[in-house]
Amino acid sequence: MRILVLGSGGREHAFSWKIAQSPKCEALFIAPGNAGTSEVGTNVNIAVTDFEGIGNFVKQEKIDLVVVGPEDPLVKGITNYFKNDSDLAQVGLVGPSKEGAQLEGSKDFSKQFMERHQVPTAKSKTFTVENLEEGLNYVSSHPLPVVLKADGLAAGKGVIIAETHEHARETLTEMLVDAKFGDASSRVVIEQYLDGIELSVFVLTDGESYKILPEAKDYKRIGEQDTGLNTGGMGAVTPVPFANAEFLQRVEDRVVKPTVNGLKSEGIDYKGFIFIGLMNVNGDPYVIEYNVRMGDPETQVVLPKIKSDLVDLLEATAKVNLANTDYTTHPEAFTTVVMVSGGYPGSYPKGQVISGIDAVDGATVFHAGTKQGDQNEVRTNGGRVLAITGKGESVEKALENAYNGVSKISWQDEYHRRDIGQDILRLINN
Ligand code: AMP
Ligand code: GLY
Repeated sequence: MRILVLGSGGREHAFSWKIAQSPKCEALFIAPGNAGTSEVGTNVNIAVTDFEGIGNFVKQEKIDLVVVGPEDPLVKGITNYFKNDSDLAQVGLVGPSKEGAQLEGSKDFSKQFMERHQVPTAKSKTFTVENLEEGLNYVSSHPLPVVLKADGLAAGKGVIIAETHEHARETLTEMLVDAKFGDASSRVVIEQYLDGIELSVFVLTDGESYKILPEAKDYKRIGEQDTGLNTGGMGAVTPVPFANAEFLQRVEDRVVKPTVNGLKSEGIDYKGFIFIGLMNVNGDPYVIEYNVRMGDPETQVVLPKIKSDLVDLLEATAKVNLANTDYTTHPEAFTTVVMVSGGYPGSYPKGQVISGIDAVDGATVFHAGTKQGDQNEVRTNGGRVLAITGKGESVEKALENAYNGVSKISWQDEYHRRDIGQDILRLINN
């Protein structure tokens, strides 16, 4: 099978790394890829939203299966583009239609979807500039803290948790009147704050059936002890101890089944991943958000945890055959630690020479923002640069292996959190 992965982050390196292990994979391309993906496949310099360029490449290279990594091309309708072209319509594609991608592309859409299908979530109300006054009154009497969310895609920055009514009013005005997040904040969802522990659950669906993949916990804040600005994610761990069989059964019954059935009953074409951000509130799952792709860096632990051939699962998704496909997992724990450029998530330099990658043994190095230099050296090329994944018989051992890998690698002003997984170790030891 000839396979194309779209994207250039750590998630896409993990996908490519796992796909390349499959005996079914004859050729693997990554567009645009990074220095890591070029070690397991061939990078192609096409942007993920250049549908025409991607379509031409797929025809020319006789690609059988396309795996879409990030949300942007999905929200912009890459799946519909393929469906509407008689040659491309035959190509297997893992990624929902534009309509399905609204689960991530519009928070208002996803809240209404959850309401229609009785999926537990925080109570909310949506406002636009037309009913700004009503919105200001609404937040002023809302219990604190109160959560304000830009409706559209805002690169993970569109959620503000206000501790005071004044901050909430200011934020609402900035979003609606001053277009703080551009068009993405022309609608704002105001919602109840959920107090609990967060967890990410991943589902792969072909629109008829589904498989729940290993769960993970990620670490969103830049600073240790979950302080400072939100990032794309600074680390991840699987398995998560509080996600026991009883909790996961509740997730399946109350969230996964109504979500997959809801998509089907509304006639929404959905073949792909559903990443469900959940809050565990005293043992009950509440959905914080849907994403229509895998998580980054969660993928860097979820895919290593899966033992079976990933291509079987992806092919079954595209061919609507998941009901007859299953997978097994490794018994070990997996953790990943993200190494970032100093300054991230604010501004940071690019082009720093990375040293020590070859010295890592006992951990897997996934590249995110990296680029091959003229002398074949690897240089930084983004905020999140590498994700180092360790495996171990316990979370503690997996962390040891990941951090051991991290200690071998350096570049100027490199930063990583030293406390990934510590909260999980406390939960296990209590
Ligand atoms: P999102 O961009 O939707 O992933 O939200 C970013 C982060 O804000 C989430 O990972 C949560 O930690 C937090 N968050 C979002 N909604 C809520 C909520 N209703 N209650 C508490 N925390 C929330
Ligand atoms: N790590 C969170 C995300 O991928 O959105």
